[in-house]
Amino acid sequence: MTATNTYQQVGLEIEPLHPALGAAVRGVDFRQLLSPETFAAIHAAWMDHLVLVFPDQPVNNAQQIAFARMFGNLETHHQDIIKSAREPEIFRVSNVDDDGQLMEADHPTVAQISLAQRWHTDSSYRPTPSMGSILHGLEVTDEGGETCFTNMYNVYDALPERLRNAVGGRKLCHDFGHLADLAPIKPLTEEERAAMPPVWQPMCRRHPKTGRTSLYISPIYNEAIEGMADDEAVDLIAELTAFAERPEFVYRHRWSKDDIVMWDNRCTMHRVMPYNLAKRRVMHRATIVGEGPVIAA
Ligand code: OGA
Ligand code: MN
Repeated sequence: MTATNTYQQVGLEIEPLHPALGAAVRGVDFRQLLSPETFAAIHAAWMDHLVLVFPDQPVNNAQQIAFARMFGNLETHHQDIIKSAREPEIFRVSNVDDDGQLMEADHPTVAQISLAQRWHTDSSYRPTPSMGSILHGLEVTDEGGETCFTNMYNVYDALPERLRNAVGGRKLCHDFGHLADLAPIKPLTEEERAAMPPVWQPMCRRHPKTGRTSLYISPIYNEAIEGMADDEAVDLIAELTAFAERPEFVYRHRWSKDDIVMWDNRCTMHRVMPYNLAKRRVMHRATIVGEGPVIAA
């Protein structure tokens, strides 16, 4: 049976959005619990397309969390500032505080969320990084604020031999604390630092479900490569990032209110395009814990 038939059987309509990755999915309502068949079809579409866009999903936090929990346990953030005070499984990716007030552009939390304008993959600094993230657009911007996603399987496959050799068998350091070198974020407490010591992850990883190999970098957390001089490592990370952002690998998502977008953190990177910080932007994220440590390819 073809995948299309399987999707049709559970009433899903799948529309690819870019040749490399991304598909819109219609015919599901996350305000209701999904049947196991519908969940399986969504999971299959996710593995095929890496990024799924579900338009018109006006869910509350509990409904978003219930959908995310079907995939696995959920992360709670190790800093208080990003975490919702009321629902710890919700990350507030927002320039509006928990009480609904727009924050100043130079607020440390805004500085931190603005670092998402650089390419990264979520929680790569954890010993077991996230499987995937599910982001709900509650207040979206008219201009800027699009989220870009890149297919890191395709990036790996297309690497010229020189770069493929440079990353093969190598480990890269992922350090949450590096954010403090990039922007005036709220200084990390001793506890926050101790909770997230730097971790070394393979630069080429095997996806536990698809078996495919992808390049695994998360440049906002990276500056050191095992066995490589510091300046050489920084140059290589920059070169790999520039390669990965070529348009043939990238889907750019323009948000509508109540879109839900979910991405696979094991084989994609993402970033948000700049937007006017005087305008409200409120996104709620549920973050699925990975099924285990990164598998080296
Ligand atoms: C995230 C993230 C980008 C955005 O939620 O992990 O990087 O578009 N967000 O807000
Ligand atoms: Mn992110």
